[in-house]
Amino acid sequence: MNPRTVATTPFNDQKPGTSGLRKKVTVFQVANYLENFVQAIFDTIAAPAGSTLVVGGDGRYYNREAIQIILKIAAANGFGKVLVGQGGILSTPAASCVIRKYQTYGGIILSASHNPGGPDGDFGIKYNTANGGPAPEKITDTIFARSKALESYRIVDAPDVALDQQGSFSLGGMKVEVIDPVADYADLMESLFDFAAIRTLIKGGFRLCFDAMHAVTGPYAKEIIEKRLGAPAGTVINGVPLPDFGQGHPDPNLTYAHELVEIMYGASAAFDSAQATPTLLLPERSRRPDFGAASDGDGDRNMILGNHFFVNPSDSLAVIAANAALAPGYAKGLAGVARSMPTSGAADRVAAKLGIPCYETPTGWKFFGNLMDAGKVTLCGEESFGTGSDHVREKDGMWAVLFWLNILAKRGQSVEDIVHQHWAEYGRNVYSRHDYEGLPSDAAEGLMAHLKSQFASLPGQKFGSYTVKLFDDFSYTDPIDGSVSTGQGLRVIFEDGSRIVFRLSGTGTEGATLRIYLEAFESDAARQRMDAQEALGELISIAHELSQLKARTGREQPTVIT
Ligand code: G1P
Ligand code: ZN
Repeated sequence: MNPRTVATTPFNDQKPGTSGLRKKVTVFQVANYLENFVQAIFDTIAAPAGSTLVVGGDGRYYNREAIQIILKIAAANGFGKVLVGQGGILSTPAASCVIRKYQTYGGIILSASHNPGGPDGDFGIKYNTANGGPAPEKITDTIFARSKALESYRIVDAPDVALDQQGSFSLGGMKVEVIDPVADYADLMESLFDFAAIRTLIKGGFRLCFDAMHAVTGPYAKEIIEKRLGAPAGTVINGVPLPDFGQGHPDPNLTYAHELVEIMYGASAAFDSAQATPTLLLPERSRRPDFGAASDGDGDRNMILGNHFFVNPSDSLAVIAANAALAPGYAKGLAGVARSMPTSGAADRVAAKLGIPCYETPTGWKFFGNLMDAGKVTLCGEESFGTGSDHVREKDGMWAVLFWLNILAKRGQSVEDIVHQHWAEYGRNVYSRHDYEGLPSDAAEGLMAHLKSQFASLPGQKFGSYTVKLFDDFSYTDPIDGSVSTGQGLRVIFEDGSRIVFRLSGTGTEGATLRIYLEAFESDAARQRMDAQEALGELISIAHELSQLKARTGREQPTVIT
């Protein structure tokens, strides 16, 4: 089968964002849209003939069609072999695991992560390099430049490959190996965590619930939690991946993972705030699981809940760091930790105590790759329900869940007690993120411009009990390759270390999403268990005032509060 060269015209909007190229499914369905981008990737990476590639996705609508197109373009571009997850499925961390384990040239992951799917939903594509991590900006910038100049792509004409059965197939001289999407990943997890201790915990009556949100982690969770760890059938809910995620929004937060939240907070519990002190009567508490967790569309995010208790993702990173030695894979200690700039400083406190470095990077997992490759950090995390380590080069939802189970099994305390004890020891970085989704782009940009106009005037100004110490737009110089990333979020830092950060999302596909990140430190144990929204009340008002939020967007209530 000879490759065919197809003439095409470039699209000018194929700029990868925080995590790859994300657009509506309907955009990807436009003739040559996907083809062009894939050819731009292959032109950029210039893989030697005969290289091996990994391809898989989160199973969302258009996954199957896209994989067939990618396989045919890969065959025409000289790849020797492609490893594809059965049914076209690979969670993002599993794809990273497979790239590393089989030392492939790289991989293509099809996902729009936590964004809704279906014919009117979102789709996405990103390239990961040989280390298993998202391509760094210098590669994504080149892909974008190439996409704007592309005049043709190469493709073979061949029948579709049967993706539903494992085995080896040939496509235009290229080998396609359809692999078990779960096995390699589950084995890696078993090598890192004390499965025997977790099994004993579960056998002893510890109850857990994992909400796969009809997204990619269903099969992973069933294999690992129900089969290998012995949790009863039914522990995994919404475990069948569906192309439209059962019409849900596969984002594991308190708003979108509402089914799990209702289970963990009790049907009759009035749930108004994440950190509210539990007031329910004991009999009701005892009916609920001890541990709840959810993961997102492509399996890289996680939400951790205790019985009527929410673990803020920034705290989760800190607790994992502080207890890492309890997991066999991390018993030898941590090289360092890294967190994205908007993530709270809770992990910094743990790092200081452990005497290891803590790095502050821009938002997006791609900034952690260099640090992990250089052996500078072991654990990384983002406030956006992302935690992970150097076992792969993506954040990893199931990994975080297993880490927590390992800690719980070893410590024999509840989730809530572990977090409270952590705060008592380190102090609490009270934290919340407010998202304003679906704003008109011009209003959001106007708001950011208004904020930026105050760079010079704000420092020194007093707002209630807070005085502004510094106001800047975060820039990052990668300590390994010296690359500089500017414009990574506006930081208002107050004299006492409290912060407000303003950022526009780089993953949305419609209008703009404004994220306001709020953080204040509380060392007083008596006040640490306060509701986060209440404790951050003054900072929230200051954020509204500084940004003229209401006047510019007409909004005062966030779409999602974390
Ligand atoms: C969001 C999160 C960010 C995460 C990314 C991909 O990006 O904020 O931490 O890395 O999704 O999961 P944003 O939409 O804010 O650009
Ligand atoms: Zn994701």
